[in-house]
Amino acid sequence: MTTQRKILVTSALPYANGAIHLGHMVEHIQTDVWVRFQKMRGHACHYVCADDTHGTPIMLAAEKQGITPEQLIERVKTEHLSDFTGFHIGYDNYYSTNSPENKQYAEHIYRTLRDNGKIVSRTIEQLFDPEKQMFLPDRFVKGECPKCGAKDQYGDNCEVCGATYSPTELKNPYSAVSGATPVLKSSEHYFFRLGDCADYLQDWTAGSSLRADGVTQPHLQPESLNKMNEWIEGGLHDWDISRDAPYFGFEIPDAPGKYFYVWLDAPIGYMASFKNLCDRIGLDFDDYFRAGSDTEMYHFIGKDILYFHALFWPAMLKYAGYRTPTGVFAHGFLTVDGQKMSKSRGTFITAKSYLDCGLNPEWMRYYIAAKLNSRIEDIDLSLDDFVARVNSDLVGKFVNIASRSAGFIAKRFGGKLAESVADMEILAKLQAEAAGIAASYEAREYAKALRDVMALADLVNGYVDANKPWELAKQEGQDARLQEVCTVLINAFRLLTIYLKPVLPKLAEGVEGFLNVAPLSWADADSLLLGHTINAYQHLMQRIDPVLIEKLIEANKQSMEAQAQAVDAAQYEPLADTIGIDDFAKLDLRVGKVLACQFVDGSDKLLQFTVDLGFEQRNIFSGIRKAYQEPEKLIGRHVIVVANLAPRKMRFGVSAGMIVCASGVDDGEGLFLLDVDEGVKPGMRVG
Ligand code: MSP
Ligand code: ZN
Repeated sequence: MTTQRKILVTSALPYANGAIHLGHMVEHIQTDVWVRFQKMRGHACHYVCADDTHGTPIMLAAEKQGITPEQLIERVKTEHLSDFTGFHIGYDNYYSTNSPENKQYAEHIYRTLRDNGKIVSRTIEQLFDPEKQMFLPDRFVKGECPKCGAKDQYGDNCEVCGATYSPTELKNPYSAVSGATPVLKSSEHYFFRLGDCADYLQDWTAGSSLRADGVTQPHLQPESLNKMNEWIEGGLHDWDISRDAPYFGFEIPDAPGKYFYVWLDAPIGYMASFKNLCDRIGLDFDDYFRAGSDTEMYHFIGKDILYFHALFWPAMLKYAGYRTPTGVFAHGFLTVDGQKMSKSRGTFITAKSYLDCGLNPEWMRYYIAAKLNSRIEDIDLSLDDFVARVNSDLVGKFVNIASRSAGFIAKRFGGKLAESVADMEILAKLQAEAAGIAASYEAREYAKALRDVMALADLVNGYVDANKPWELAKQEGQDARLQEVCTVLINAFRLLTIYLKPVLPKLAEGVEGFLNVAPLSWADADSLLLGHTINAYQHLMQRIDPVLIEKLIEANKQSMEAQAQAVDAAQYEPLADTIGIDDFAKLDLRVGKVLACQFVDGSDKLLQFTVDLGFEQRNIFSGIRKAYQEPEKLIGRHVIVVANLAPRKMRFGVSAGMIVCASGVDDGEGLFLLDVDEGVKPGMRVG
């Protein structure tokens, strides 16, 4: 055989704070088809991915849900992996960026870059949330657009007029985390000197690598190269790679309280996932990652994250002494019925909802693959077209070839195929296309590969119509001919299955069972199946019932409501740390009876209480005036008092305890005193 290539392939690492949707699926299907194709060709191909777990949004999401970030990313990883596995995405490893390997490589790469003079530190001013005590990423500052005055706009751009600006330019800014007015605060940040790498990047982006099999692989697609040239010519700025605590990520070595920005350790996550795989299966990591390695490394990504993969990443690898990517393959975005995916229209389709509605993942794999090419074009999922195309191509043209011939082989020939066929023309045609179809897969021209396969299926269906096995079956003395025609058809079906296997791995598995053969590889297209006994045919694929599509859209509209509810849940105060009974026993809560209650001169927040605790009377100030505007009405009722709270000296006197009340996260929700049932005596302990 030809040279065995050693190939490492990645898909971008999905953020660990959201569900996998069909947009993600475009990328993972594109990658998976390519990987399966390479494996079928006999190459050593390893496909790794991971969840991208660090950063402020994940930290805050966990906090809102009242769990630790570690708990959140653990749960989400299980969900993500189950979605991807459901679509038959065959990773060799699916890992996490919050891993020991990733920490080690991030630190090592950072130290090496620093030793090579590629890191500088500078003090910058940034908006800070004084209430939450944290620096605010641009997306977490909101306010009025400085250009058009629209309210509630994000800190980086206005969704109303499209203006871009910096968060300090917003009018009446507020923190999206706490609502507080942010203040400018300075802090020392670390920067990667990307500008210093401009010459190298100019060469790298325009360059190519020589594969072990002698083929030249350009690093970037032509459209990506144009974009990078624009960016390089516009001047490359130093890249801020540090964030201040509190942050969920890796602390920077020798810089307490400073963390690596999520986008620093995210691509390193590719290495970490691969390292974890190497250790597991005994592969040589250095063989793949040392500078000058003749192995290949490809990153499949969306067009929105090109900057990170085509500039930062190669520069980081280069100046940390590692190999650089062989190719970065960017794709466009998925639209549904010509529009951006929308939660209100129900077209923001999650992977889970698709599977839960009982849709076959291979329908979507086929449809997406049939739309993909090597360019960065957006691809549209037209729901009507989806149904029509899958039903006509996969079921009508492909699967029917088997269902129209298998029965005769089983019933009339005991499952045995003819020993030879004279009728070689059509099979020879199918075999002759193997190389061309392979070239299309290799070049990520899946749309072309599948068009060619379907053109072959048309030929085969023409052969069926011309030879009419159902008529041969009725004619005397035509047994040999019938067996030959059906043997041709089963072989044609086998060849088409080989060509479709990267896209339809599950269906191919079913065919392998039916044909009673070992897993099909690409080289199997050189041979035919003759004199072989096959198994009984079982239906391989259903048609899509359009009702399922309605169900799918409905399900995603519902999950939108569920989402709104999830946001509501976030309005609750996170649960405090678990305590033991001893901790609780320290708190002495008593029933008190209100003897007197009045406004406090000079305070619009406080009420002054005299509370009878049975064994003594207490003076207590409580900040509930807003909720209880008629203090005299409280006289005579019971309240619950934290009786062993250290007395607190206030401007208006000493407060000897605290009256408990219920409150929401947000003041506007009100305050509510607790009451006790009839018959209670002041001074009774609560617990
Ligand atoms: N975590 C980063 C990637 C780090 S890679 C070292 C990230 N995550 S993401 O979850 O937002 O996106 C993951 C991938 O999905 C990206 O390549 C992105 O382009 C792709 N897509 C997200 N929405 C998409 C569509 N609607 N259509 C196609 N791909 C899309 O970015
Ligand atoms: Zn505006």
